[in-house]
This record gives sequence, C-alpha cells and structure tokens, in this order.
Amino acid sequence: MPRTAHNILIYNSQHFEGIGLGQRNAADLAKAGYPVIACGVGSPTMPPSPLVRATHAQKAYEQDSYGYIEIEGFHDVRRTIARAVNSIDKLGSHFKSKDVVITHGAGSAYYTLMQHFGKLSAQSGFLTYPYYPYHRKAQRLTNSEGGIIKGTLHNDFIPTLEEMRAAIVEKPGPVILTLVYPNNPTGVALDETQAKQLAESINQVVKERYQKQQKRSDFYMVIEEVYFPIIDPETKVNSIYTYLSPEARKNCFVTVSASKGVGAANLRVGAILSKNNQVLSQVIDPIETHAMAVSPPAAYAFAAGLEEIADDLERAQKNLWDYYGVNRIQLMANGLERIRESVEPHCLENAEPVRIMPRGGMFLFADLSFLKGKQVPEALQPLLGGKTEIRTDADITNIAVAMCELGYTSVALAPAQAFGWPEGDCMVRISCVEDPRLLNIALESLQAMTNLICGKDAGIDSNTERAKQIIKEVRSERQKHIIPAQSR
Ligand SMILES: Cc1ncc(COP(=O)(O)O)c(C=O)c1O
Repeated sequence: MPRTAHNILIYNSQHFEGIGLGQRNAADLAKAGYPVIACGVGSPTMPPSPLVRATHAQKAYEQDSYGYIEIEGFHDVRRTIARAVNSIDKLGSHFKSKDVVITHGAGSAYYTLMQHFGKLSAQSGFLTYPYYPYHRKAQRLTNSEGGIIKGTLHNDFIPTLEEMRAAIVEKPGPVILTLVYPNNPTGVALDETQAKQLAESINQVVKERYQKQQKRSDFYMVIEEVYFPIIDPETKVNSIYTYLSPEARKNCFVTVSASKGVGAANLRVGAILSKNNQVLSQVIDPIETHAMAVSPPAAYAFAAGLEEIADDLERAQKNLWDYYGVNRIQLMANGLERIRESVEPHCLENAEPVRIMPRGGMFLFADLSFLKGKQVPEALQPLLGGKTEIRTDADITNIAVAMCELGYTSVALAPAQAFGWPEGDCMVRISCVEDPRLLNIALESLQAMTNLICGKDAGIDSNTERAKQIIKEVRSERQKHIIPAQSR
C-alpha cells in the first residue's frame, strides 16, 4: 500500500500520545531498510558496570533467587538503596530500609503511587511542565485529571510561586504535585540556587494550603529523580527534597530507577522512598499490587549499581557525563550551531533561536521556531497530506520522516508537542544517547532539512548511503561487546 500522509499522521498520532509523531513511522521505515537514526526516544546505550552485571549473574545462580519474595523487596536490598540514595542525594532525611519499596522501574513506581492516590476522591494531579508523556497518561488512567503548572523556557521551567499558589493552595480536594528533576524532556537540572528557590515556593504553598484547608492528608508530592546520577558535575545540584520543610517532606515520595544512571533499563527495577510509612505500606497492598515483587537478581544488581555510584559520586557523575554529556553536548551544540548558521541569512531577521543545553539527563530541547511559517518543500507536501506551511512542531518531525522516506536524509525527532508543549512553538526533543557518529549524521540530516525548507535545496546531497554505512559499523561494533556466557 503506498504510504500517504494521511496514514502517516493518523497512525502516528495514536501512538504514545503523540510522541510517536514521526517516531512510529521511523520504526516502520527502519524495518523497511531505510537508514533512520531515531533521535526522538532515547534508550540508554551505556552498558551497566561490570559490578552490576556480576551481581546480576551471581544472584541468578543462587538457589534462593527463585521463590516468591516479599512485595516490598528484600530487607538488605532496601537498606542498601536507602543508604545509597541518602548519600547520592544528600537528602539529609536518613531514609531507612523501611522507607523503601522496590518497584518495577520508576514508571511502575509512579503508576502505583497514582493508583493509590486515585482512590482519594475529587482527585487533582498537578504536573510541572513540560512533562514526560506517561505522567499525563497515569493521571488519566487513575482518574486524576488535574492541571499543569507552567514554567517557561527562560527560567528553566521553574514554576512561579503564583502559579503554584493558584494550582495548589486554592484547589479544594486532594492535590498531587509531580516534579521531574533533572527534567525529561528538557534536560534541565536546577543549580543550587534554583533548587532552593523552587523548594521555598513549595514550602510556602504547602504552609498556605494547610492553613487554609486544615487537612494534611490530601497533599502529596512525587519527585522523580531517575536522572539524578546523570548530572553535569559542574552543576553541583542537590535534590529538591534537601530543601523541603519537614511539613512538605511528610507527604513526599522520591522515585529512582536502574534505567538511566545504572544503565540497565531492562532490569526493570526502581524504588520509591518516603518517610510516610503509612502510605508506603498501603501502596504495597499485596492484593492490589502483587505484581510489584521484582526479580531478586535484578533488585540486587540495581542496589549494587546505586551503591557504586554513591561510593564515589563525583567519579560516577563524571563518567556518566562524559558518556552521555560532554561529548554529546559539544556535538549537539556544534551541530545546532551549524544548523543555525545555515539558515540565519535566510530566515532569521530578528529571531534568535534559543538553544538549551542539557545539564542533566540525556535530552536536548531544541527550538526550531525559525522554521515556522516557512513553506513545506513541494516534494514533501504529498507526504504531509498536502500541507503547505509549517505551523507546529509535529510538522517539523513529520518533514524529517518524510525526508527519510524520500531517501534524502536519516533523522527522526520527537515533537515537543508530545510533552505538553503548545502546538506552534516548533520545539523538538533530541535524544543525545547515541553513538557520536550517528548523532553527527543525524545533525547533518537536520541541516539538510533546514536548508531545504529555507530554500537552499539546490543539489541537496543525500547522506543516506553514508548513514547506512555508519549504522552498519556501529551495529557490528556493538556486537563485539557482547560478552559470551562463560559457563553453561
Ligand atoms: C522522568 C522519567 N521517569 C521514569 C522513566 C522510566 O523509568 P523506568 O525505566 O525505571 O520505568 C523515564 C524514562 O524515560 C523518565 O524519563
């Protein structure tokens, strides 16, 4: 069946609440043999440390790894995680093993918490903005449709006191505030001053809410810290939790994951940490959440990985940052600069494109608004349902996919729209967790795309053959790193 823009747009928009705009098609195109470099979704490419792998393997050999286990996880694993998180985050709250519940990753930790909070009536879940798509999905699934507190691009997405006041203090009925720091999708990590400023606003609204509403059991906060180990060491950041008042901490839940810092997304392990033992014990209600008990080897491997990071946080952050950050950042900065230079004489009269370099996490939120209002190149219009003008960020990511499909280039991006960003701002999210060679050619593709859009399409030089070659090289190198099983 010939691919039409119609099926591109409809098909995509149903996937992953819009993150799949472009992305889903990228997967189809890759299957069909096109050399597509997907920079929209980022799966960590850094392998877990030898210690994590050895712990996983060793525990898998132990006989007692195969029975049912306590839902909340083994005591020693919980103790190790508590100690490691205390030390990594400098939380100053001295979590103990009883304050930790092991979960199937941070995603499941969030769902489980929301499911629990969803039992409260008149539920309102508040997210800071932009958000990771599953937060919104979890809110909907748990009937906690609430609102989004907007930060802005220029203040690193820190919601203002007024915004929080309106959302939290004035709101009748239960409220849950979700914060993701360092942030996915933007890669923003707050420095100490900013983290303090945010925590002070939270402390203030919590105080005002309790004065006004008198009820302490209906304000909860979830802080997702899955990217905490992946912070630019220069940023010297502390967890927001560190600066929270005892009152605000009381109903606060911190989540962590093996997926990012530990580099083992497939272990499917994470944890919830909280001093609110009453809620924690309700959250692990065995009838509601029996599926929470995770594989013991995976849980031990996660704990070992976290402990390793905690033992020498600076070194661990530096290693991770070198891996995920600096090299990529330089590449991304240079790459984006290159794109900017190529279009500046053509379309940037007054506008200065904003470039946000990630200080944490593995993503870059790029402002491509200089493409707004430009014509969709004629050759691509049939693939975009006859669309002639660029109006939304999804238009840009669809153009990227259409260019792959026409054999010009090789990059797929995620529209920021999938992260709650308003249509029309023309922001995209680019994952930096790829081999630099792939990132480089992806950026070259982006540049070719912007050239084409800005009318510099004469003799557009297709990079797909080179992309094919590089993808092949990277794949075969990865194969070499597979360690054969030592004994069977
Ligand atoms: C903010 C945030 N939380 C949670 C997750 C998922 O974590 P896990 O793999 O542990 O479920 C992600 C994944 O990208 C994320 O960005």
